[in-house]
Amino acid sequence: MVNIEAFYHSCSSTISYIVFDQLGGHAIIIDSVLDFSLPSGKIGSEFADKQIAFIKDNQLTVDWILETHAHADHLSAAHYLKSQLGGQTAVSAGITIVQQTFKQVFNISDQELLATGDVFDVLLVSEQVIKFGHLRVLVLATPGHTNDSLTYLVEDNAFVGDTLFMPDGGTARCDFPGGDAGTLFDSIKRIHSLAEGTKLWLCHDYQPNGRVLKYTTTVAESKRDNIHINDKISKADFIQLRQKRDKSLAVPKLLYPAIQVNIRGGKLPSAEQGEQVFLKIPIEQSLFYPEKSGKS
Ligand SMILES: [Fe+2]
Repeated sequence: MVNIEAFYHSCSSTISYIVFDQLGGHAIIIDSVLDFSLPSGKIGSEFADKQIAFIKDNQLTVDWILETHAHADHLSAAHYLKSQLGGQTAVSAGITIVQQTFKQVFNISDQELLATGDVFDVLLVSEQVIKFGHLRVLVLATPGHTNDSLTYLVEDNAFVGDTLFMPDGGTARCDFPGGDAGTLFDSIKRIHSLAEGTKLWLCHDYQPNGRVLKYTTTVAESKRDNIHINDKISKADFIQLRQKRDKSLAVPKLLYPAIQVNIRGGKLPSAEQGEQVFLKIPIEQSLFYPEKSGKS
């Protein structure tokens, strides 16, 4: 039997899941979150500690700490949770492409980070099966939001990451490096081809129009009611809608901090002065260095 406990992180509107076979049994944690304050640079574990307490209270053994993708809106607690609970961290093998891309963006050295995915214990590929206790997780590649996006299927529960939101929330943006609206359409069609009663568990809910928090729907509901992609919308129309909408979206507030930590599997960069750690922000230089902007 599958047991699912959802944990809602309100600052990032993220839902992280603990999935387990039975009390006293085996568990996985999906899309964990560290608390982070951008103005102060403070990182905290209050949210992750609630999950640790749940695991301990229910005497669960954590086998896997999984990411659906390299998130751009929150910092992963995977490294912290592993240090407290054990288990293996895992992400898509496509993470190496994300690492390569952002190593360049942040000018990260090879000594600091190799783009080989070695900061994770296991790199996953589509159709792979991993096990915890009596349960199995079928890994499905569902790229589009990012090239490394995965869906984890545990019996009739699909943890879809950012591919889909609740029907009234539509779909995730496709304008990050490696994102592609047409690819997302194909991935969502794949999710929609699962049995109609399959429960979809979402990574985010932004509560459109102020409605109460919801983070689970079904394939049948999603196919019928999703405002961006449903049985009546063609691929060409979806691509047009998605690309138009992406042009109107702001850069996520935690994009740079989140990506720098998440391509390291939730570890912080190495300390530079004693214990002090820094995160970088790439600056657009045209104001102070116009000769480098290509306009002079
Ligand atoms: Fe995302």
